Amino acid sequence: MTLAADLLDIATRIARDAGALAHRRRQEGVTVAATKSAAADIVTAADREVEAYIRAELARERPGDGFFGEESGAEEGETGITWVVDPIDGTVNYAYGIPAWAVSIAAVEGPPDTASWTALAGVVFNPVTGELFRASRGGGAWLGGQRLAVSEVGPAGGLIATGFGYDPATHAPALEQLSRVMPIARDVRRIGAASLDLASVAAGRMDAYYERGTHPWDHAAGALLVAEAGGTLGGAPGGRPGRGMVIAAGAEFFPVLEAVLDY
Ligand code: IPD
Repeated sequence: MTLAADLLDIATRIARDAGALAHRRRQEGVTVAATKSAAADIVTAADREVEAYIRAELARERPGDGFFGEESGAEEGETGITWVVDPIDGTVNYAYGIPAWAVSIAAVEGPPDTASWTALAGVVFNPVTGELFRASRGGGAWLGGQRLAVSEVGPAGGLIATGFGYDPATHAPALEQLSRVMPIARDVRRIGAASLDLASVAAGRMDAYYERGTHPWDHAAGALLVAEAGGTLGGAPGGRPGRGMVIAAGAEFFPVLEAVLDY
């Protein structure tokens, strides 16, 4: 078994168990534990508990690896592999009971920095629908037994997912940007979980996704899904996905979207 396949097996098992735990906690009732960057940016007790579970399981399976998680921070490892984890992506959906949230786990090689890492394995699991999207470097992107491929955009334009993040200062420019996107869009979706937006692009359910301000744990696994499904990814002009921007689409539609974003 290759390293990437081995890491994918570990991520898959842990994401399933972590998702089941989060789902159970959701059914028991959700409490907001704290706010983070803004009043709308919340963390629930379940986010913390689920990340602690994932972190402990990873440490048991692969003790020398690094860890980079949304709720408990970063720890360098010795193997060159770092796990990038969002225990509950779509926390606001989770808190409101909207069934669009996911456990996102990626294993990356190299410095734990979106500008230079190489993603080896990634899993995005929505415990409510039971859908588990997975990809390993060179091994394709999969949903169950179905190999995923990005869509081709028809004459009606792209079905485009986006998000607005929690920083109020970015909302006016984001809306202005959206007004430039609408003419190339069949329609727009704001689902509320970046990892699921990216998984949807990989699965051809969405033609494209873009968003500024997301964190590495929001897009590490989803970006690998898109790449392995034959999609194109970008960030700041000419760069890789990062805090400044994440764009994901099929090869033909990518430059069309990138041009109107004009960021
Ligand atoms: C958020 C979601 C959302 C995106 C935000 C992210 P969280 O992640 O992915 O769709 O718009 O930028 O922070 O806070 O729910 O893990």
